[in-house]
Amino acid sequence: MSSLLKAAILASALLSPLAVAAQTLVVDNVTIAATEDTVAPAIANVSTGSNATAELFTSEAGQLTTEVLTNLTDLQLSDIDLFTFNTGNETSVVTRSNCASGSCKVYPGDALYPSKFVWNVFSLLVGRGALIKTVPIAAPCYTNWGVQDADRCSVVLNNWTNDSYMHADDPTSVMWPLYEGLTCMPTDTPSANCSIGGYPSYAVAVTNVAQIQLAVNFARNANLRLVVKNTGHDFNGKSAGAGALSIWTHNLKQVKFYSKLTQDKYTGMAFKIGTGVQAYELYAAANANNVTVVGGEGRSVGVMGGYILGGGHSPLSSLYGTASDQVLAMEVVLPNGQFVTASNSSNPDLFWALRGGGGSTFGVVTSVTVKARPRMSVSVATFSISTGATVSADLFWQGISVYLKYLPVFTDAGTYSYFSIFNLGGGAYAFGMSPFFAPTLSNTQLKALLAPFLAEIAALNIPVTGLTYYAYDNFYDAWWAHFPLETIGSTNIKTASRLFPRANFQPATGNATLFNQTVGAIRSTVEQGATVLAFNIAANPSSGYPDSAVNPAWRKTVLHAIQAIAWAEGSSDEVAAAACLKLTNEWMGEWRATCPEAGAYMSEADILEPNFQQSFYGTSNYNRLYAFKQKVDPWGLFYAPTGVGSEDWYVTGQIDGLPTQNGRLCRL
Ligand SMILES: Cc1cc2nc3c(=O)[nH]c(=O)nc-3n(C[C@H](O)[C@H](O)[C@H](O)COP(=O)(O)OP(=O)(O)OC[C@H]3O[C@@H](n4cnc5c(N)ncnc54)[C@H](O)[C@@H]3O)c2cc1C
Ligand SMILES: *[C@@H]1O[C@H](CO)[C@@H](O)[C@H](O)[C@H]1NC(C)=O
Ligand SMILES: *[C@@H]1O[C@H](CO)[C@@H](O)[C@H](O)[C@H]1NC(C)=O
Ligand SMILES: *[C@@H]1O[C@H](CO)[C@@H](O)[C@H](O)[C@H]1NC(C)=O
Ligand SMILES: *[C@@H]1O[C@H](CO)[C@@H](O)[C@H](O)[C@H]1NC(C)=O
Ligand SMILES: *[C@@H]1O[C@H](CO)[C@@H](O)[C@H](O)[C@H]1NC(C)=O
Ligand SMILES: *[C@@H]1O[C@H](CO)[C@@H](O)[C@H](O)[C@H]1NC(C)=O
Ligand SMILES: *[C@@H]1O[C@H](CO)[C@@H](O)[C@H](O)[C@H]1NC(C)=O
Ligand SMILES: *[C@@H]1O[C@H](CO)[C@@H](O)[C@H](O)[C@H]1NC(C)=O
Ligand SMILES: *[C@@H]1O[C@H](CO)[C@@H](O)[C@H](O)[C@H]1NC(C)=O
Ligand SMILES: *[C@@H]1O[C@H](CO)[C@@H](O)[C@H](O)[C@H]1NC(C)=O
Ligand SMILES: *[C@@H]1O[C@H](CO)[C@@H](O)[C@H](O)[C@H]1NC(C)=O
Ligand SMILES: *[C@@H]1O[C@H](CO)[C@@H](O)[C@H](O)[C@H]1NC(C)=O
Repeated sequence: MSSLLKAAILASALLSPLAVAAQTLVVDNVTIAATEDTVAPAIANVSTGSNATAELFTSEAGQLTTEVLTNLTDLQLSDIDLFTFNTGNETSVVTRSNCASGSCKVYPGDALYPSKFVWNVFSLLVGRGALIKTVPIAAPCYTNWGVQDADRCSVVLNNWTNDSYMHADDPTSVMWPLYEGLTCMPTDTPSANCSIGGYPSYAVAVTNVAQIQLAVNFARNANLRLVVKNTGHDFNGKSAGAGALSIWTHNLKQVKFYSKLTQDKYTGMAFKIGTGVQAYELYAAANANNVTVVGGEGRSVGVMGGYILGGGHSPLSSLYGTASDQVLAMEVVLPNGQFVTASNSSNPDLFWALRGGGGSTFGVVTSVTVKARPRMSVSVATFSISTGATVSADLFWQGISVYLKYLPVFTDAGTYSYFSIFNLGGGAYAFGMSPFFAPTLSNTQLKALLAPFLAEIAALNIPVTGLTYYAYDNFYDAWWAHFPLETIGSTNIKTASRLFPRANFQPATGNATLFNQTVGAIRSTVEQGATVLAFNIAANPSSGYPDSAVNPAWRKTVLHAIQAIAWAEGSSDEVAAAACLKLTNEWMGEWRATCPEAGAYMSEADILEPNFQQSFYGTSNYNRLYAFKQKVDPWGLFYAPTGVGSEDWYVTGQIDGLPTQNGRLCRL
């Protein structure tokens, strides 16, 4: 008997009540242990199957095929469907809904939650070492996980907020622990036990498509909560989920450059990139090939995962549009377990939805093929302005008003800039421009672009400090020098954001009252204590952009502004929740009032955003995405907070104003 057949027989008995309790199985009255000798990984080598021009990666050639499954189902055993594809209605999902309301995903401890034995068989089917039982990253700081280790604890503690690589390299860690539930924070003075909280129960460190298909099928058939984690950067806890099985895409690291690729109507340079690839890896690969790729500013962000699926903004967006505008094709495991190609000519509805419709909604993407651009020179400027001996708060805000008036001029020149406004207390304010990023412009051109703005600032007698210009002959060096690794892991900060339209910044040619109101709204919240981190950016390039699910608010914006509220570290949940609600309702209310029809960028937005469907997607796109979601995922297998269809679900045990992923996921 082949090991695959033995695996099939083992799997077939998994749903029967007796087998669920057993650690071994009886086949033809012979007891078989579930081990690597009896259960082989369920995978076949498939070299074809993509409808895209770029060939499949080796990781994508390893698939769970219908032939592998036919070998299982040919045995005519009734309960094989724990790991099989879905083709129609499933009874197992229904019978495994056992919450009081009959509508929740199964949860550890539930009678119908898969037994240790089932997890063991799943582990064998996905192959040695791939299934990881969660140990929270900070568990070494505590006594109750059996992994206490003062040295490791010290590394986790000291690197918690400055080392996003550490979180990305862990199967379940997330960078915004507030949404996990703060149940296992690193500490050298633990006063409670570490609990798993909103971290998933298990993660599969996937290295091939077959493992993703098995995990998707298993989660769907067993009615498990499913999470996809790439790096864990998500601002809103989208890569966490209590009791879940997580698909961890971090190791899908292949990168292939095509000096000439034809895909649909495009012929030119392209990259095919695994979804585990991070910005620093992609930019290095592009630089090595003497080209440029549109990606984000953050060094460690998973640029082909949640970033590009949510649209993705880039230092190159004012020139080329969103990152998702560059996509030529994607390879995807659908909620039904099938592996398909999404492109303009293959599954075009899926292709439309995946470009801006958000992560963890329509399937697991394994690779993305994007356009590559020629090498380009970049000029950069940095400077700051602040209140001081000769600069009153009113004068400072006049200076800010001058800067904001130039936002459309700057994006029209293809530039992008990242600036901050801090309330230093006692009526003191600081504006930092770091960096003003000008792709393709020479230093001479950049100086000419900034000259009228700087002249107006000088006319107001506002000193500009630290004005420095830099020149680079490629994107990579400019990006590396001016976008340092950002801090993460905070427990006492909440952010929200708005995509302010160009129309708000045209006092001379458009609505001066609206401009005045917009500057006033930003000033007002900063005066109340907000910190502003903002991007002067457009995503409406003169070369045009494809029709996709990207939030239409992106096409009108020149300012993606984030504001943050902070509360004292160690505050009660009630204090934190009150601060979060103040940000959402009061501070953001002032910003929204200046552009009620606009929206916000889903990947750097407020988890409590009112009417997120309109704000993050645009109403018409949302309706189309929601209908498509019902078609491709009628089970609601993929869930992410504020994702398409998420309004049909809730997480139990929540505090108003402070949502976490630490609770059961239930259908409303
Ligand atoms: C320090 C920092 C810098 C940032 N800089 C930028 C920036 O310059 N521009 C910008 O636009 N955004 C930026 N972001 C926001 C970023 O786009 C989001 O955090 C995004 O969600 C990150 O995606 P990820 O895959 O790395 O993270 P994750 O948190 O792992 O995933 C995010 C979401 O995508 C889903 N997902 C991930 N991979 C896949 C996949 N292969 N298939 C299906 N679903 C998947 C996850 O399930 C989750 O829902 C930044 C964030 C941080 C914290
Ligand atoms: C298995 O054992 C039972 C009871 O001992 C016996 O009745 C049955 O015939 C056996 N089946 C096989 C396939 O040997
Ligand atoms: C798939 O093919 C590759 C190369 O031909 C080989 O190394 C690998 O072992 C094969 N994998 C399986 C599961 O057959
Ligand atoms: C299916 O089973 C047959 C017969 O055992 C075997 O020859 C074939 O390789 C199997 N197919 C796969 C994809 O494992
Ligand atoms: C699923 O079940 C519903 C209700 O019983 C039925 O209307 C529908 O046709 C079924 N779909 C499939 C694919 O079997
Ligand atoms: C941070 O982590 C690195 C390894 O990633 C380690 O070398 C370093 O010691 C850590 N820092 C502290 C202060 O522990
Ligand atoms: C984070 O800070 C620690 C010291 O506190 C240092 O050892 C470590 O290298 C830093 N990590 C990164 C990625 O900068
Ligand atoms: C921590 O867990 C242990 C058992 O693992 C228990 O005995 C102890 O009381 C717990 N401590 C706290 C502070 O909850
Ligand atoms: C996409 O396909 C449509 C029709 O199927 C076609 O009209 C359009 O030109 C194609 N676009 C690209 C970029 O290939
Ligand atoms: C390729 O395209 C055909 C025709 O549109 C479709 O039937 C098939 O499912 C597609 N295959 C993949 C892998 O996407
Ligand atoms: C790199 O690309 C630039 C811009 O396309 C081109 O001018 C230059 O010749 C290329 N350099 C090499 C070494 O290929
Ligand atoms: C200008 O903006 C103000 C404030 O939002 C608004 O009340 C007014 O209707 C606008 N005027 C025009 C002509 O749009
Ligand atoms: C808006 O206009 C009013 C009245 O003209 C003026 O007092 C106020 O300073 C302006 N606000 C801003 C932010 O320019």
